Amino acid sequence: MSQQKTTILFVDDEESILEVASEYFTQKNYHVITAGNGREALDVLSANDVDCCFTDINMPGMDGLELAEHIREKDMTIPVIVMTGYPSLENTINTLKNGVVDFLIKPVNLDQMELCVRRVLRQRQVFVDNLLLKKELASKQRIEALNNELIEKVDELNHLNRIMNDFEQVNSSRELFSRIVELTREVTHADVARLFIISSVKEPPFQVTYSAKRNGDAQSVDKSVENLVVEIVEDGIPLLISDCNGGKRGLPDTVESAMIVPLKIREKVFGVVAAFVDENPYRFNEKDLYYLSFMAQKAADTAENIALYETISENLFATLRAFVKAVEARDAYTKEHSNRVADMAVAIGREMGCSEEELNLLNFAGRLHDIGKIGIRDNILLKPGRLTDEEFEVIKEHPAIGAMIVSQLGLWDRETQIIRHHHERFDGTGYPDRLKGVAIPFLARIMSVADAYDAMASDRAYRKKLDLDRVMTIIKEGSGAQFDPRVVNAFVRLVDDGRWEFL
Ligand SMILES: [Fe+2]
Repeated sequence: MSQQKTTILFVDDEESILEVASEYFTQKNYHVITAGNGREALDVLSANDVDCCFTDINMPGMDGLELAEHIREKDMTIPVIVMTGYPSLENTINTLKNGVVDFLIKPVNLDQMELCVRRVLRQRQVFVDNLLLKKELASKQRIEALNNELIEKVDELNHLNRIMNDFEQVNSSRELFSRIVELTREVTHADVARLFIISSVKEPPFQVTYSAKRNGDAQSVDKSVENLVVEIVEDGIPLLISDCNGGKRGLPDTVESAMIVPLKIREKVFGVVAAFVDENPYRFNEKDLYYLSFMAQKAADTAENIALYETISENLFATLRAFVKAVEARDAYTKEHSNRVADMAVAIGREMGCSEEELNLLNFAGRLHDIGKIGIRDNILLKPGRLTDEEFEVIKEHPAIGAMIVSQLGLWDRETQIIRHHHERFDGTGYPDRLKGVAIPFLARIMSVADAYDAMASDRAYRKKLDLDRVMTIIKEGSGAQFDPRVVNAFVRLVDDGRWEFL
């Protein structure tokens, strides 16, 4: 006996989305009908039996929410799934009131959509059964059930929002990978979460990059798990084994429940995230798989952005460094000045207990701090004798010019601040903004000492370098006037302990 196909209605004003969804679900043996807007969708509904409807929210004429309301009036058992780019709590509650049963956050992926269809149809079946069996339910109880459903939905949305926000704050691939396993554990109740990243040069062709376990060590990986990972890498389809019960799919006896989901960038699998239950009585269900797939997709998007950002950032930095080298090459005496300043600023920062992130900022900004000199004319910049007041005013423009060059790239806000303020003085008489004391960014106060030190400890066109005692005396005298006393103290400790080599 041939089975009746499930009919899905897709409503979206973007033709391409309809085409992609239609092709995918037809292949998966669903009967697909499409509509370009709410009105067309209502026509389809009056002429066909539809089992489930996906709709965009923003469409000309009748929007997705109005459509959902019409569908609910017609047949309250038809599940409506809205696809939206910007979910908010208020939006959620309004949509739920209109009979929407699920959300997908755009851009949606097709695997996710299919998981969603299966889930809502199952829910629909339960709902229909309930309607038939429990018509006598008092309205009070029905409201209670709906309320519970609402609470569950809001809870689900909070989970999804949490996943999105978590990844938004990630800045490096290392941080991203450890967030993936932590979040997997948290969101799915797993005892163990593992992330495998594919490597083309190693055997086996992937590595366990990060693991998290409720108790004890999660590093060792069973051969059978490796085999399963290879399978997922090859076919790219998420796997859920709710109850492994006696080592299903060759998994170790200790594994009670398992999920393995691929991480893809533009359809290419670059890793796999796996979750296992081996101690607690929980068993994964389709909702967990939905969360894990959603998370995997967000993680993959973030990975792609980070990779792009890291490449762009490295290229731009190399270009800016080339400018600095060009400036330094105009004056034989300032050769390598920026590199030395960066090294010293990092050394002082480390002495003062700066975080790795702050040390990176010092290193980066140090190497570019005088980039603004590219905007200063040679006859002033390279003048061997004393500068006139007018000429000095021109020189004083270089921190602001440098900050402007770097800030226009829009990538490095904190670095820009250090560059702009490296000539401020602690007593408020510096430039360009005459900031005073702690109003000067902390890292700029460090840069200022490192810069002044290197200028005095190097030969210049108009004078020989000063000896170490003289340099140290001048810096100590500047404590509280030109320099932050805390920075001076840290610097003096470095030199006195012989941890900074005077060349
Ligand atoms: Fe400078």
